[in-house]
Amino acid sequence: MKMAVFLVLLVIFLSAYAPLQSEALNVRGRLLKSKTFLSPPFPLHPGSVSNKFYYDIDFPRGHLALKSFDAEVVDENGVPVPLHETYLHHWVVEPYYAAKNSAAADAKGLPKTILNRNSGVCKHTLGQYYGLGSETRHTATWVPDPYGIEIGNPPEGYEEKWLLNVHAIDTRGVTDKQGCTECRCDLYNVTVDEYGRAVGKNYTGGLYCCYDQTQCKVREGFNGELRKLFLRYTVTWLDWSDAVVPVKIYIFDVTDRALLEGKSEPACKVEYQVEECSSENRAKNDCVDVMVTKQVLPRGGDIVFGVAHQHSGGIGVSLHGQDGRLLCTSMATYGKGQEAGNEAGYIVGMSTCYPKPGTVKVHDGEVLTIVSNYSSERQHTGVMGLFYILVEEHEQQQQQTVANKPALCFSFPVSWCLPAWLSNNL
Ligand SMILES: *[C@@H]1O[C@H](CO)[C@@H](O)[C@H](O)[C@H]1NC(C)=O
Ligand SMILES: *[C@@H]1O[C@H](CO)[C@@H](O)[C@H](O)[C@H]1NC(C)=O
Ligand SMILES: *[C@@H]1O[C@H](CO)[C@@H](O)[C@H](O)[C@H]1NC(C)=O
Repeated sequence: MKMAVFLVLLVIFLSAYAPLQSEALNVRGRLLKSKTFLSPPFPLHPGSVSNKFYYDIDFPRGHLALKSFDAEVVDENGVPVPLHETYLHHWVVEPYYAAKNSAAADAKGLPKTILNRNSGVCKHTLGQYYGLGSETRHTATWVPDPYGIEIGNPPEGYEEKWLLNVHAIDTRGVTDKQGCTECRCDLYNVTVDEYGRAVGKNYTGGLYCCYDQTQCKVREGFNGELRKLFLRYTVTWLDWSDAVVPVKIYIFDVTDRALLEGKSEPACKVEYQVEECSSENRAKNDCVDVMVTKQVLPRGGDIVFGVAHQHSGGIGVSLHGQDGRLLCTSMATYGKGQEAGNEAGYIVGMSTCYPKPGTVKVHDGEVLTIVSNYSSERQHTGVMGLFYILVEEHEQQQQQTVANKPALCFSFPVSWCLPAWLSNNL
């Protein structure tokens, strides 16, 4: 009797297992889903800044594997807006879990919301799953097959929602477009930050000076209409299945000096300043600012994707292993014209790395080096040097328990074994 039940189960398992295999081969095919959404509108007039946080945005729901997230700023007619009119400083998306019944959560002493951060070491900043800036139109975010970013698996009593932050600066008619996009405090006439704290005397520019509703200096007599803009974003995904291999997201930040200074807590400042090169260096034609730091990768595995984020003036960023080996280089591309996606003087794309699976390995606790290069032909304030990687984690512990447990094998009709994930559940 027991054997009969087992055989019935076996037939069900095997017939369920067969289509999974074909899904694995066909992740790019019919199962790939895609949808385009619009953020809430953000109004901008010449010189103004919008830095808004939108909670519970439109997003695919369910237990899914994210494959890509692409975005751009458009106007009310859906027409892409060029960076020299509206500079997209950054956008970030991050999942969070909201209690289905917040009163019940409260009563149990449970949080109403839980931010679901990426796996990186920057604890108080850079928690996003995706985030880019001016380069978004020509930067690939595609997660290669058979990998996917697992979403929609919230803890009991919670549902998953998504947070979007869009920081945009309208530079129509401003006296200094680059100065406004680099958030130079003098152009914004800002001496205290959003929370009323004085920005340091030597803080000449950055996010503290271009917060929501600040105003950059506009040419006398310039008139430009108020515009309603949107972030239009396209998400591509697959339904989650065992055919998808999950990847972990890590974001490294070149401003974190903690390890170099012997401190244990990472200090990701996100922004830094590039000083204009000295006359000696200019004479030697060496006006490149090289910023280097080290950060720990908590869990190792195979790198399957990598991309950097920089601001105007950026040349490229490289990521190296503990022994100095190159893991990935991401270089900036600049536009050459006027139209959206090809704006001269702006970074319109960052190159990406798609290593052949299994060829770029990093180990648990490995100390990685981040190198961010900027042109120092002139000063740049509020620049960034981030490196985003996706890692397929090696499930060592699970493999061990599998190895310890004899596999369920049969000799009829030919010698074969149940897949480990299946026999472990029996
Ligand atoms: C700059 O800000 C100060 C006070 O914070 C104000 O008195 C001054 O008028 C502002 N200047 C301009 C040009 O807006
Ligand atoms: C500003 O000066 C202080 C003290 O001299 C220093 O600790 C800090 O790093 C400086 N900040 C910047 C952005 O240069
Ligand atoms: C950064 O600059 C250094 C020194 O000029 C150079 O050796 C390195 O290749 C550059 N890396 C990138 C990613 O541009």
